[in-house]
Amino acid sequence: MIKICMFDAKPYDEYFFNRFNQDGKFHIDYFEPKLTKETAPLSKGYDVVVGFVNDTIDKGVIDILVQNNIKLLAMRCAGYNNIDFKHAFKKIHVVTVPSYSPNAVAEHAMALLLSLNRKIHKAYTRVRDHNFSLNGLLGFDLFGKTIGVIGTGKIGKIFVKICQGFGAKVLAYDPFPNPDLKVDYVDLDTLYQQADIISIHCPLTKANYHLINENSIRKMKKGVYIINTSRGGLIDSEALLKGLRDCQIGGAGLDVFEEEKDFFYEDLSMALMRDEILTQLISLPNVIITSHQAYFTKEALEQIAKTTLSNIEQALVHHKYTNEICYFCEKKGQCEARPTNQPCF
Ligand code: NAI
Repeated sequence: MIKICMFDAKPYDEYFFNRFNQDGKFHIDYFEPKLTKETAPLSKGYDVVVGFVNDTIDKGVIDILVQNNIKLLAMRCAGYNNIDFKHAFKKIHVVTVPSYSPNAVAEHAMALLLSLNRKIHKAYTRVRDHNFSLNGLLGFDLFGKTIGVIGTGKIGKIFVKICQGFGAKVLAYDPFPNPDLKVDYVDLDTLYQQADIISIHCPLTKANYHLINENSIRKMKKGVYIINTSRGGLIDSEALLKGLRDCQIGGAGLDVFEEEKDFFYEDLSMALMRDEILTQLISLPNVIITSHQAYFTKEALEQIAKTTLSNIEQALVHHKYTNEICYFCEKKGQCEARPTNQPCF
């Protein structure tokens, strides 16, 4: 039987993974802590480690997993910016779930935008206090506005279509434009200059770390709304805060935050918040933050559990690595091993 340990496991992970393991093909132990150098030794005796977005999978952790003879690191997410691939290359195979519900994330991005613009978060608490005043709740029509979409892969493409459904004009930027998508591709500077709203849907890489920074914010329209459901590191949060304070940015809807790993997914309601920037962002009326929940739908969790277990079975039983990600894939953009389902090394 394949022995799996899962880190940063929550009750909902346990529920969905157990549902897809009813025939008992896998033995799964669920560990509450995140995967770090301190917790990695818990992997001893297992075949597979299942990780998640806020685990720290650096050199030290990879070395411990290799020492413990872990055959596969199966990520139960699409993003993989938290893994040191260069170090993992030729030491441990890494697979991901490349797509679970792009609709879930695109719909959440629009939910953030609509709530922010129409001040739903404010209206909700007001009405609960029997305050029926509309002062300060003024929004604008999305119809006719220009929305800039950065990254038009699986999620960005759906977000483009949702925005077009609202009658907005959409401009897009992607180094690899999608020829089948009916949208105007422009360079980043044009997007910054013309967009009333900017939504980010690209992966975080070394090259685009702090893509949104003081310099790019300066190029944007005054009062621009920024939505980020991708990765926190794409935005320099200090520059974002400054932009909001200076009213250069009109509002921000964030599902991700660059220092989120110490906070997101945990109930810290009785603790003192240690992150100054996060505290200040939360306090602003024109900022909505959700705790990396864009993916969190029933359909997505089913798909994550199904694909992760299938990735594990494919790799350990059939030696096929369909969803493998490696240093080679990262460098070349596309892994030559992929089409054949063969291991990358
Ligand atoms: P994808 O791989 O299908 O598409 C990404 C697109 O971004 C590609 O078209 C690529 O060419 C483009 N791209 C790469 N670098 C770029 C850059 N510097 N500027 C503009 N475009 C660039 O990925 P998918 O499935 O659409 O996911 C996008 C991101 O969403 C993931 O990398 C992940 O970080 C995030 N995500 C967030 C979730 C959440 O719950 N908040 C859940 C799932 C994904």
